[in-house]
Amino acid sequence: MDAIELLMTRVSVPVLTEPGPSDCEIDVLIQAACRAPDHARLQPWRFIKITGERRHDLGELLVKAALARGDNLTEGQADRLRKTPLRAPVLLLPVLVFTEHPKVPEAEQLLSLGAAVGNILNTAHILEIGAMWRTGLVSYEPVLAEELGLANNEKLYGFIYLGTPAAEMKSVPEVDPAYFLSDW
Ligand SMILES: Cc1cc2nc3c(=O)[nH]c(=O)nc-3n(C[C@H](O)[C@H](O)[C@H](O)COP(=O)(O)O)c2cc1C
Repeated sequence: MDAIELLMTRVSVPVLTEPGPSDCEIDVLIQAACRAPDHARLQPWRFIKITGERRHDLGELLVKAALARGDNLTEGQADRLRKTPLRAPVLLLPVLVFTEHPKVPEAEQLLSLGAAVGNILNTAHILEIGAMWRTGLVSYEPVLAEELGLANNEKLYGFIYLGTPAAEMKSVPEVDPAYFLSDW
């Protein structure tokens, strides 16, 4: 497949299984992330990798965060939330690393983080690694940031799930470019 075809066929993969990406592949994903457009070269991103047993610890933390949010969880809901990190063998957590800069407001730095994650998703697709970016309201809870060791200038933007696609990939929806494009 050529590069354009690869870009046009990326889809999120919700059901993922072992094996996860290798350390070498993860390095490639991070290198691709670091080629995102980035005003003033602030590199306003970092990624926390969570694999193996640590996913259970993250699950416990998500329940703690939901309770801190005031969510009234039933046992079943708590259990489902606790198991969400087990949806994939490898998780990369995108973190905005904000730097005060006279010409680069926070919104631009967040756009760079989003572009970096986009590069990760596209590169995963090229490497035939299934990937999906999810947030969920608990991911914005301060207790999560604290326990993950985020600094005051950092903010978590969810979870990139990575692994081997476990089901047929969904088809790519048709796009009418004219709908998204206008002349001025
Ligand atoms: C910042 C961000 C957060 C997202 N969070 C969730 C989420 O929590 N749950 C979910 O089902 N999809 C979430 N999505 C959407 C999926 O990642 C995906 O883009 C969507 O299902 C469309 O599928 P596609 O990527 O194959 O077009 C999120 C997307 C973005 C950009």
